[in-house]
Amino acid sequence: MDLSISRLGPAKINSPLRLSTERGDRVCNFVSDDERILYDVSLRTCQACRNDPASVPLSFERAGPREHIYFDPNKVRVGIVTCGGLCPGTNDVIRSLVMELHYHYGVNRIYGFKYGYAGLVPEGGYDVIDLTPAIVKNIHHDGGTILGSSRGHQDEDTIVDTLERMGLGILFTIGGDGTLRGAQKIHEEITARNLKISMIGVPKTIDNDISLVEKTFGFETAFSIAIDSIRGAHVEAEGAPNGVGLVKLMGRHSGYIAATAAVAEPDVNCVLIPEIPFFLDGDKGLIPWLRNRLESRGHAVIVVAEGVGQDLLEADKNERDASGNVRLEDIGLFLKRKIASELKAVGVKYSLKYIDPSYIIRSAPANPNDSLFCATLAQNAVHAGLNGRTGMLVGYWNNVFVHVPIREAVAERKLVDSEGELWRSVLESTGQPARWK
Ligand code: F6P
Repeated sequence: MDLSISRLGPAKINSPLRLSTERGDRVCNFVSDDERILYDVSLRTCQACRNDPASVPLSFERAGPREHIYFDPNKVRVGIVTCGGLCPGTNDVIRSLVMELHYHYGVNRIYGFKYGYAGLVPEGGYDVIDLTPAIVKNIHHDGGTILGSSRGHQDEDTIVDTLERMGLGILFTIGGDGTLRGAQKIHEEITARNLKISMIGVPKTIDNDISLVEKTFGFETAFSIAIDSIRGAHVEAEGAPNGVGLVKLMGRHSGYIAATAAVAEPDVNCVLIPEIPFFLDGDKGLIPWLRNRLESRGHAVIVVAEGVGQDLLEADKNERDASGNVRLEDIGLFLKRKIASELKAVGVKYSLKYIDPSYIIRSAPANPNDSLFCATLAQNAVHAGLNGRTGMLVGYWNNVFVHVPIREAVAERKLVDSEGELWRSVLESTGQPARWK
């Protein structure tokens, strides 16, 4: 893995931020380029490096304000674009980007592109919005994004033409894996043309599935909202003989929302996520497990992530959304029918309540902890962009904000580790079988 970050050129301008370089003078400090954060903090890795003097432990650049910057704040033009599905906190990020650029660096040419990458190509036909503190000051109270969003690929050549025509110096892209893959292609085109345009990503997805980023903004708010549905399902399940509460949550490839919500609200008895295949029948299948659970405890709560069990359904692999994802069949409704027919077939009287909070969990405004996270992500994105870093996103690793090359972040998707701590917590909290076969 190569965690080095590209730069547009030497940063020669003194930063307008009034910070210090001395520790102990009670003034916040600039971050120097040699401050790095270890990728792996385990003692074993550190010792392996100590034993081999030639090896240097893998590390990230620490994010934060640099003493010198690349762009002249009086002259640089900056763009912001939000892409992909909605996500709590997107407006917080837009607001903080604008406030940091305007009040701290004195950047006054900030443009918002409408409806994702479609706003960056002439065929989209969308106007550009001037973003000022007056426009963004109250937007964090609302879910969604004031810029609008869209899915789908746009030609990177055409996008870079637009950036060139507008004389843009920095483009902040707020989005998930598809958006970041697009940002990487734009960055490559910018590099091929030898342009001085910085591409800075802010990782946004409720699915929390970006590699090398411990958490993405919006994830915490989304799983917290999902908890209301789980509580409702539990109350309903306990309120009837053989009550079954079934909750479907978003999570196309990664089951972080379902797994995390289930540990946070431990009334859940079984979690099904895309990373861990399950089986309906057989000794250790879901249906026999459910019958046992009803027999012994009289009720059950099941949380199912939308991307699991697609092999049980007749998904048409050719039907794709604008991001190129295969359109999922509804596993929640499938399980609802299947459980009902299986229990009926063996004469078990039951009451099944199905809850799908759907888009409610991602269209809400950010909770306070996510808002805090968004503000700091955005401030660090501005520091990186003004300094001339490029082809990177602001990540969070070992509790520190760091610079992550987009190239590495999109190389593979982050999945719940079936041998990791989160999944172990799920198993301990639910008591569900570790294997379904
Ligand atoms: O990417 C986040 C996400 O919420 C996924 O969990 C979900 O599959 C997808 O977006 C659905 O979004 P849309 O209906 O906008 O494609």
